[in-house]
Amino acid sequence: ELAGRAACGGSPRRRTGRAFRSAHWFNRPEDLGMQALYIERYMNYGITKEELCSGKPIVGIAQSGSDIAPCNRHHLELAKRVREGILTAGGIAFEFPTHPIQETLRRPTAALDRNLAYLALVEILHAYPFDGVVLLTGCDKTTPACLMAAATVNIPAICLNVGPMLNGWSREQRVGSGSVIWKARELHSAGSINADQMIDMVTAGTPSPGHCNTMGTASTMNALAEALGMALPGSSAIPAPYRERAHAAYETGRRIVEMVYEDCKPSDILTREAFENAIVVNTAIGGSSNAPIHLNAIAKHAGVPLDLDDWDRIGHAIPLLLNMQPAGEMLSEDYYRAGGLPAILAELLAAGRLPHPDAATVSGRTIGESAVGKTTWDRRTIRTYADPLKSHAGFVHLQGTLFDSAIMKTSGISAEFRAKFLSDPDDPDAFEAAAAVFDGPEDYKARLDAAPIDERTVLVMRGVGPLGYPGSAEVVNMHAPGRLLRLGVRDLPCIGDGRQSGTSGSPSILNATPEAAAGGNMALLRDGDRVRVDLPRRRVDILVSPEELRARRAALDEAGGYRGPPSQTPWQDIFRREVGGQSEGSVFTRATEFRHLAQKY
Ligand code: FES
Ligand code: MG
Repeated sequence: ELAGRAACGGSPRRRTGRAFRSAHWFNRPEDLGMQALYIERYMNYGITKEELCSGKPIVGIAQSGSDIAPCNRHHLELAKRVREGILTAGGIAFEFPTHPIQETLRRPTAALDRNLAYLALVEILHAYPFDGVVLLTGCDKTTPACLMAAATVNIPAICLNVGPMLNGWSREQRVGSGSVIWKARELHSAGSINADQMIDMVTAGTPSPGHCNTMGTASTMNALAEALGMALPGSSAIPAPYRERAHAAYETGRRIVEMVYEDCKPSDILTREAFENAIVVNTAIGGSSNAPIHLNAIAKHAGVPLDLDDWDRIGHAIPLLLNMQPAGEMLSEDYYRAGGLPAILAELLAAGRLPHPDAATVSGRTIGESAVGKTTWDRRTIRTYADPLKSHAGFVHLQGTLFDSAIMKTSGISAEFRAKFLSDPDDPDAFEAAAAVFDGPEDYKARLDAAPIDERTVLVMRGVGPLGYPGSAEVVNMHAPGRLLRLGVRDLPCIGDGRQSGTSGSPSILNATPEAAAGGNMALLRDGDRVRVDLPRRRVDILVSPEELRARRAALDEAGGYRGPPSQTPWQDIFRREVGGQSEGSVFTRATEFRHLAQKY
């Protein structure tokens, strides 16, 4: 069945008998001493000399699950089926651990570890005898970390998502992991629920193994991995406990061996066209506000030009098709049963809005081919392009005197927010408001109730970008003080130089670059300053005179600049020295110069 298939890059399938990369370790007649050394320790747990020297593909299984990474922990089971798929197809499997990144547990923030996991995986893939690798992805940053590394080393690679949890329930109500926290936090702040009720409410969202069951950053990044062509079509949305998840694990293992024979590499898949498809998909699924950071980072390591103007230009006008929390009502099981990503692609394809249907995927078929005939039966969950949940649901890219670059997910704008802030007929889709400025989440918690905030205030959070926190914290979505919540005031505009959880639906202005700690004007803002947000012009400006801003800048410089807390570990210090701005994907710029490392052998 597979024999006649075109290779992922469109060239005819190659089974030429060429030696694989692993031959540099396991078949070295010119240097038998080294070959003996490379072989001896790998035999000590049972692999035979014949297997190691057979010339068969050696395939890595990059294991991201562990007891401290519960979102990805189910990969400990799935890896067994991956291994069986690899063996069935004639490969040899080497499983190894990646650096864990658990979004909900890692302090000060998991964002600090995406680049660490990336660097560690590059070293492993480059330095060991791998001909291909299965990337076991899932929780938010595990997916971009793996794809950044695969793009750098450029050996055949394929993603397998761990899959989302089952739907959470409270009686007949769906409870989405992550998303429920924002609601519970407000209810607790308003005094409507006690501590036990809060914990019970939040944990109802996590009923099984798997990653978040909402369209948070995990579901988003795995959908985008599939949209980029790096995962088997239809695989990203399968819930972790479903039998189809284990089937996908087996098929992924089989397929990577064929990819090694075909020499189907990330550089064949991660093209500019693939990234444009992913941007469109991100809007259609209501994807996370963290997606631009991660996708731009993957593009940087793949050597593909991509910036936030691309996100606005390609993605903003696309409608929201998927009715899934936080943008909608449903959860992971509904999404999967409705057809998952292929059903979304089928809508985009039918409307002629998938920019590049001919883009290659790891399956050997094009992305367009993988969506043919996949139209959903469930119109409550996946809408048609002509009758979407929201039109123009993508990000806008904002610039101005407060920052050079920030994004806003306009699909998160509620009717209440629109009525209060965006309804002036003389100034449509724009507003001015006085700022309440917080230096990090601790300052926000300490001063929220006493700060000068009313129902027309813009809440500003600074000092929480990649340098400031460090790593960049998901804390920009702030709620109003309890006294206003009790009056029904909920959606205050928020601006920050940090991030927001992908599970939050708040219409915040996020990822402001340069951050306060990098010398951005966010550091000059004071309580009571007026800020103008103008969405049609894509601008956010401080309404303070240039002379006053210059004076504040001089005073700040005199005082030694805007300082975050001191680094607590060596890695925090290295991270701060190397990391670039969020608009550029928070990558280590020097690391992007090392590309296609595997080809050096
Ligand atoms: Fe791990 Fe949401 S916290 S996927
Ligand atoms: Mg998150």
